[in-house]
Amino acid sequence: MSKVLVTGAFGQVGSDLLKALIIKHGKDSVVATDIAEPPSIFKDLHSEKLDVRNPEMLKKILVKEDVRKIYHLASILSASGEKNPFFAFDVNIRGTYDLLRICSEIEGISVMIPSSIAVYGTDSPKDNVSTRAPTRPGTMYGISKVTGELLGMYFYKKFGLDVRGLRFPGLISYETQPTAGTTDYSVDMFIHAVKGLKYSCYLREDTMLPMMYMPDAIKSMINLSEADPSRLIRRIDYNVSAFSFTPSQLYSAIRRIIPDFTMDYSVDSRQEIADSWPASLDVSDAVLEWDFKPEYSMESMVADMIMNLRKD
Ligand SMILES: NC(=O)c1ccc[n+]([C@@H]2O[C@H](COP(=O)([O-])OP(=O)(O)OC[C@H]3O[C@@H](n4cnc5c(N)ncnc54)[C@H](O)[C@@H]3O)[C@@H](O)[C@H]2O)c1
Repeated sequence: MSKVLVTGAFGQVGSDLLKALIIKHGKDSVVATDIAEPPSIFKDLHSEKLDVRNPEMLKKILVKEDVRKIYHLASILSASGEKNPFFAFDVNIRGTYDLLRICSEIEGISVMIPSSIAVYGTDSPKDNVSTRAPTRPGTMYGISKVTGELLGMYFYKKFGLDVRGLRFPGLISYETQPTAGTTDYSVDMFIHAVKGLKYSCYLREDTMLPMMYMPDAIKSMINLSEADPSRLIRRIDYNVSAFSFTPSQLYSAIRRIIPDFTMDYSVDSRQEIADSWPASLDVSDAVLEWDFKPEYSMESMVADMIMNLRKD
């Protein structure tokens, strides 16, 4: 039975993706890999401890499990990447290169690599930013994401490897706490609000960033992976996002449901990263080539987040 493999499977995106893949393909067709131990909800799932810096082990698993599709999510995110750029280089750039090289030697495998708005830099425009805008990032994370896109396109053109990818904005989810991204304040704000705690936001109140709710992010990744290849021109770098907001706008939206919630600001080094990112994205390439259409507005996301966090 051919299988779908996820790297970095127990992170924020992977945890939600695994649930969707289990529903779609069945538990026995999904292989979850990560350097981290599986959380209890995935104890019954076939998982392998895999460091993506170990290409030989990756190859063994791909061949043994007859893997046909990979979601390559293993990554060191923006804030952690700036704390340890050499480690981020090894995992994000070397890990992605090795994965693509190995996949190009295996017939009939396809690879999905999420990229990020971190590919943009201070010389990119701010509003309604096109996929074609300059990508000259100033962070190791951003550099690694641009490199992943370029390598993906190279392996497609040179070796015919089916590599696809999309640039996620900040992702908001209630299932897993985010690790070390720059947009994590949004999830933290929800968690504090629902627990009745005051929140101290590390970004300035007027920092506008593009965002998307996790169910839409998972759906968009799966839809792109299944899209008709003859329609795909860009293949690897589609901007996707559903809405943009500032910390102050999210605070107001949460207070409409939880009026007692309070927040102040204690800006740290993540502000510099956020300042180099777009405020909003032009998603027209994704709409044109594979019918990207997010379901959640900011209002419906806020209501759904609070309802689900309250259940927990
Ligand atoms: N979460 C977001 O807001 C967001 C936004 C834009 C892009 N993305 C992209 O989505 C993908 C997944 O991000 P995420 O938010 O789930 O990140 P995350 O940090 O929550 O999860 C990453 C996972 O990778 C694992 N990992 C780290 N080093 C590894 C290694 N050497 N080998 C194997 N696994 C390793 C970690 O244990 C973790 O489970 C990444 O490519 C990221 O760039 C995420």
